Amino acid sequence: MGASTESPPPEDLTIFDAEPVLRELAAEIAHHDARYHGQDDPEISDADYDALRRRFEALAARFPSLAKTLAPTISVGAAPVAGFAKVTHSRPMLSLANAFDGDEVREFAVRVRRFLSLSEDTVVELVAEPKIDGLSASLRYENGRFILGATRGDGAVGEDITRNLRTIGGIPERLAGAAPGVLEVRGEVYMRKDAFQELNAAQTAVGAKVFANPRNAAAGSLRQLDHSITAKRKLQFFAYSWGEVSQRPADTQMGFLDKLRDWGFETNQLTRLCATVEDALACRAGIGEQRASLPYDIDGVVYKVNRLDWQDRLGMVSRAPRWAIAHKFPAEQAETILRAIDIQVGRTGALTPVARLEPVTVGGVVVSNATLHNEDEIARKGVRIGDTVVIQRAGDVIPQVVRAIEAKRPADSVPYDFPTICPCPVAAEAVRPEGEVIRRCTGGLACPFQAVERLKHFVSRDAFDIDGLGEKQIQAFWDDKLIAHPGDIFRLKNHAADLRKREGWGDKSVDNLSMGIESRRAIGLDKFIYALGIRQVGQATARLLAINYGTLDAWRTAMLAAGEKVEEGGGETNGALTDLLNIDQIGASVANDLISFFAEKPNRDIVADLENELDIQAFAAPVTSESPMVGKTVVFTGTLTTMGRAEAKARAESLGAKVAGSVSKKTDYVVAGADAGSKAAKAEALGVEILSEEEWVAFIEAAQI
Ligand code: IVH
Repeated sequence: MGASTESPPPEDLTIFDAEPVLRELAAEIAHHDARYHGQDDPEISDADYDALRRRFEALAARFPSLAKTLAPTISVGAAPVAGFAKVTHSRPMLSLANAFDGDEVREFAVRVRRFLSLSEDTVVELVAEPKIDGLSASLRYENGRFILGATRGDGAVGEDITRNLRTIGGIPERLAGAAPGVLEVRGEVYMRKDAFQELNAAQTAVGAKVFANPRNAAAGSLRQLDHSITAKRKLQFFAYSWGEVSQRPADTQMGFLDKLRDWGFETNQLTRLCATVEDALACRAGIGEQRASLPYDIDGVVYKVNRLDWQDRLGMVSRAPRWAIAHKFPAEQAETILRAIDIQVGRTGALTPVARLEPVTVGGVVVSNATLHNEDEIARKGVRIGDTVVIQRAGDVIPQVVRAIEAKRPADSVPYDFPTICPCPVAAEAVRPEGEVIRRCTGGLACPFQAVERLKHFVSRDAFDIDGLGEKQIQAFWDDKLIAHPGDIFRLKNHAADLRKREGWGDKSVDNLSMGIESRRAIGLDKFIYALGIRQVGQATARLLAINYGTLDAWRTAMLAAGEKVEEGGGETNGALTDLLNIDQIGASVANDLISFFAEKPNRDIVADLENELDIQAFAAPVTSESPMVGKTVVFTGTLTTMGRAEAKARAESLGAKVAGSVSKKTDYVVAGADAGSKAAKAEALGVEILSEEEWVAFIEAAQI
């Protein structure tokens, strides 16, 4: 047995001492669990095992957030620890792109055809399914038994809510009939409207919190640490999709839905197979008419390409499938009074007008702030302070001001004058370049409003996502000068004593925060780049940069080199800049923002400081099979007959390759279709390997599972 049973009692440990001890205990428990459950060959007595477990539990109770990060490794038969264990989804849980009108849906169908190189008269059947307003969940079945259930989380990592999901009647414990050995069923947990009313009445009766809408009620009921509470709430489940499957059970979405019903799931009865886009739109109109009288909330209709082989080829782009789109129902609207317009300064200095409203309920949620977008929008809508305005809210998007009701305008109101000075303490000029809609503060790094917004972005969900460190805490720590730069977050532990003294903070919250911070010291290069908040560098661009440069050092060196002036008239070109621009989808404007970022010494210092604090991990391409394309740079040229350019590019990227626009010494492969011109010639001259279309297709097929 390891040394961990002999270490000091939990009350004598600080969180920093506790971490390695807990880690070791978790590893030991996981090892013995595997011997016991997996190999039926325990190495230690039950009493010794229980002693390990008790020690783990005692430490876990003292440092719950720490335990939370370790719990997944010991979840077999584990007693519940505070919080839910994290679950890494074996296939990401995707979100959906939105369409707001029929034309956007028609464009979706055109994109699908173009991507698959299908002629206009090829029938592309679409499945129209109601978009259920609940929470998605992933249910893993192995050999027909329900073994793990998780929330969506950020799409990559969710929370283990198996026990809670087991309380839902519509989730079978065992699948009926034959099923693949591994089957992950995905769908929506929701609460019916009548159950929601009933729950709120019961909550009111005991003076407990009432829920704003059925979706919130479902969320609040499902994420209960005590699953006996979940069991008392009336939750239901509609199945509509899958994650990992060991064997494809159907050829079409409709066929898959049939299978789901055979296995014992409920699927939505309003789902229809449509032969054309127009049929699909008509189907949505029909569902829309029934919306108010349906027993559950829906917020739109999802259209999915029926053929699963086409879905495979279409793949996904920025976390949403190319083969599906959500067609939302119009937003709910309400009237209220515009009390004031505040100007918010974003991390890139953009001035955004925010409407402060007389609070009003829209679609079950109280709204007191809404966006006015930008100065042109205020002028276009003619909105004035004091006006009665129409506001709307759709799904999770920020409520917006739609228009002013002029008939109700106070006599003394005046048109709104958009400020040309940043409201920040530096009071820098705010300028609006020709042709742009956004006015920006010119204070740059001196503007404290931008600095604090950059910090908020740094810890946001898709960036560092630090538990216990949200916008509110960042603002408070900034105001109290505890943090000025991102690196300061990782030195907050030096202020532990100050933190403990803060109002509303105690040992436990400080420990939790420390754990949240410590657990994020290791970070992937793509998230790191995104977290820096460089203008125009969103998640997709950050990922592209990480794929192409691999390490922080390589990326930074390249960005600095790209910013170096080459001698005028020398005929010389800046190779680093050429490489940067050669990355497909990075244009001159993004390149310029990257160069400008590194041109500022304070930014370089921030990066260097973070580098000291963090373990920035080189980008690892998420490829399942050993593909010879991983890390290789590919250029496509000429006409491919088996697939369109977009599909070829998407396939190459999913195999871990980088796709470039032009041939250079760094190109590994040129895929030459029919009539390949100068690029093929250049490849030959440079000795770059040229693949024929057949060879390229063979590559893809070999990589397919
Ligand atoms: S398909 C790749 N189908 O909508 C599969 N999603 O906005 C992506 N949702 O996270 C999901 N009803 O929670 C799908 N019939 C339906 C749905 C549905 C509701 C939710 C789901 C998803 C969200 C995306």
